[in-house]
This record gives sequence, structure tokens and C-alpha cells, in this order.
Amino acid sequence: MRNALESITLTDLEYLDGIHTHLDGVLRRIDREGGKENIPVVGTAVGRFLRVIAAAVGAKRVLEIGTAIGYSALWTGGALPRGGELVGIEPDHARAQRARMNWREAKLGAKLTVHEAPALEVLPKLRGPFDLAFIDALKEEYGEYLDGALPLLRRGGVVAVDNLLWGGRASGSRPDDRGASTKAIRRFNKRFLSDDRLVATILPVGDGVGLGVKR
Ligand SMILES: C[S@@+](CC[C@H](N)C(=O)[O-])C[C@H]1O[C@@H](n2cnc3c(N)ncnc32)[C@H](O)[C@@H]1O
Repeated sequence: MRNALESITLTDLEYLDGIHTHLDGVLRRIDREGGKENIPVVGTAVGRFLRVIAAAVGAKRVLEIGTAIGYSALWTGGALPRGGELVGIEPDHARAQRARMNWREAKLGAKLTVHEAPALEVLPKLRGPFDLAFIDALKEEYGEYLDGALPLLRRGGVVAVDNLLWGGRASGSRPDDRGASTKAIRRFNKRFLSDDRLVATILPVGDGVGLGVKR
């Protein structure tokens, strides 16, 4: 198997980081806060990736499962047009409030709505269509999130899923912790790649991002 990663070094990754535009004020602050408070926000590579995908599908409505304090939402939101909307799901009230505050501070043209309840309760009540869905909450529930989100996605819409390498635990490059999340991610990865509702792949961006286009 030919694999570009065999030749990619940390220097290459730093080089790529260096030639991208630096984080603007709000994103830089949230990134720092996430690190300090141990809130697992996406890395910058995944943030940039989400923004490009949102632009590529001409996203006007985005669904995000697991919004935390709004870091990934701001990355995606940066590609939304005036009048667009990001619908987030975040059961932690304090985090949801901070996401709203950060969104206001970023002065985006699109609107943010955050539902403060578990995704499996919220998803059946939402109305589509969405152009893009991003899954980044409880790993054990990824399969159910996918089943809940796909009917809400338009044809040709994209679903992105974070943490599919699960810090090396999915492949075993880091010792198997036999945890429920590791088992769930491995099960999900197989299912995602063979789901005939999607054209799907998993990319080695950040902690592994699944990308599926709805048929
Ligand atoms: C990995 S963080 C999300 C990070 C965010 N996407 C970012 O990169 O900025 C996962 C979030 O999912 C939330 N969460 C936990 N249980 C949930 C559930 N049942 N439904 C939706 N979100 C949930 C957590 O409170 C946490 O803030």
C-alpha cells in the first residue's frame, strides 16, 4: 500500500501551518481557552477543512452535533453567507452560552441557534434540509447521530465526522484501552465506509475526519 504519510514529517505539518493565515482574534482566544480548560475542540487543520468543505458545498444551513464553546462552529460559520444558519446541539448550558457569545463577538453574517439537549432528543425534532452536518459528540452514539442526521441532509450534502482515528486507539498505534469509545469508533468506521447512502472516506486530517456525500 502506497501511503503519503510515510514521508510526511512534523516539519511538513509545521510548514503547512505556517503558510496558512494565522487565527483571527476570536478563534485564537477560543483555541487557547479550549486547551486550558480541557475542552476537546477540533484542531486548526480540521477547522480549516470544515470551512473549505462548507464553501465547496455552498452551505447555507449547517447542523453541528457537539458545539461546545463554538470553535468548530466559527470555522464553519466563516464560510456561511449572510442569512445562513448554523444549528448546533450542545446539552451543557454554560458551553452553549459561551458558543453564542463567541459567535456574536465574531460578528458573522449567519445566525447561530444552539439546542441545549442531547442530540438523540433534538435530532428527531429538527427540520431539514441541511447542506452540511458535522458530528463531534459522544463516540458511542456516532451511528445513531448519522442515522438521525442523514434524512435531514440534502442530496449531495456532506457529513463530516471527527475523531475517527481516536488518538491512535482505533488502529492500535496507541495501546488498546478496550474502552467503549474505542470499540464504538472502530464499529462506526466500518459502517460509515460501507454505508450505501453515502460516498465516503476517512482522511488522516487532525484526529481522522470522515467525509461522506449523501447519494
Ligand atoms: C468534542 S466536544 C465538541 C467540540 C466542538 N465541535 C469544537 O470543535 O469546537 C463534544 C461536545 O459534545 C457535547 N455533548 C455531550 N453529550 C452530548 C449529546 N448527547 N449530544 C450532543 N452533544 C453532546 C459535550 O458537552 C461537548 O461539549
